[in-house]
Amino acid sequence: KTLENGSYTWSSPSNIALVKYWGKKEHQIPENPSISFTLNNCKTVTTLSFSKKENNDDFSFEVYLDGENKDDFKPKIETFFKRIEVYLPFLKDYHFKIETSNTFPHSSGIASSASGMSALASCLMSVERSLSGVKVTDEYFIQKASFLARLGSGSASRSLEGDLVVWGKHQDIAESSDLFGVKYSFEVHQNFKNYQDTILLVDKGEKQVSSTIGHNLMHNHPFAEERFKQAHKNLSSLIGVLKNGDLKAFIDIVESEALTLHAMMMTSMPYFILMKPNTLEIINKIWAFREKTNSNVCFTLDAGANVHVLFPEAESELVNEFIKNELVAYCQNGHYISDRIGFGAKLL
Ligand code: PMV
Repeated sequence: KTLENGSYTWSSPSNIALVKYWGKKEHQIPENPSISFTLNNCKTVTTLSFSKKENNDDFSFEVYLDGENKDDFKPKIETFFKRIEVYLPFLKDYHFKIETSNTFPHSSGIASSASGMSALASCLMSVERSLSGVKVTDEYFIQKASFLARLGSGSASRSLEGDLVVWGKHQDIAESSDLFGVKYSFEVHQNFKNYQDTILLVDKGEKQVSSTIGHNLMHNHPFAEERFKQAHKNLSSLIGVLKNGDLKAFIDIVESEALTLHAMMMTSMPYFILMKPNTLEIINKIWAFREKTNSNVCFTLDAGANVHVLFPEAESELVNEFIKNELVAYCQNGHYISDRIGFGAKLL
């Protein structure tokens, strides 16, 4: 089928890893499996408009963020298009207009690559579906969208579905794959339903280390092999924990994963410290609060200074008070985002 023009709009969320992806091989193949909560409020909305063009020599596209032309996004998207061209042969037949906006403030220090790349991949899959003569199943659609999103940004492969997604081959999860994310299929205890994630914006500056550089630092890293083994082990343990609802064991795995991610950056060459003093203040406050109240609040971190505060829905009142009274003071301009588990990309 050929189409002259059309447009699709998708929203896709960010996600927060419990077992972290850090280190990759060629073609965006992860060195270890990872698992994340899909978020609900932090998302990207992307409209992809396409119109048939005369020649098919080159990619042709324009990019807008919140209505403003963004030429500085073009190299990343050009790289993405080159990687996925063999899987979407129509890419050079059309001119694309990509209009995107995030629900979270840009330069909040929250990576928009997972939500952005998964939204764009979903839009492109909608184009493929409308061009394809055959009926495309939802399963194929989501899996290929995740496959494509991975080639944009590894963690983006975990944003298509919810509420928990695994990416990377793991021995205990038969359907897991290095090529795309899969919805977590084992039993999940009520304790983990609608888990809350409040993101404390400690430092809204540009990330010091791009994740591309970060992943590459795991090549020849002295602790790499042990770290990759540990991620496998932690995911195995987490399967049991998610099933039996053991919140204390959950905290041990999640906080250790966050600190290990940062430990890898501190022990690479060159080395980096991505935490800020306020990151540590917050972590210490969380630990003290847990001592005092027996709450199950815990933290996790991405490759930056911001802190994700995770807690069961049942503790919302208690923990929200704690956040307001004791943690917001450590956020830049008092900024934070209340989020919770969500269910993935949606066609609007
Ligand atoms: O998707 P990337 O290449 O930006 O890597 C992100 C990796 C972490 O966010 C630090 C961890 C993870 O698993 O999401």
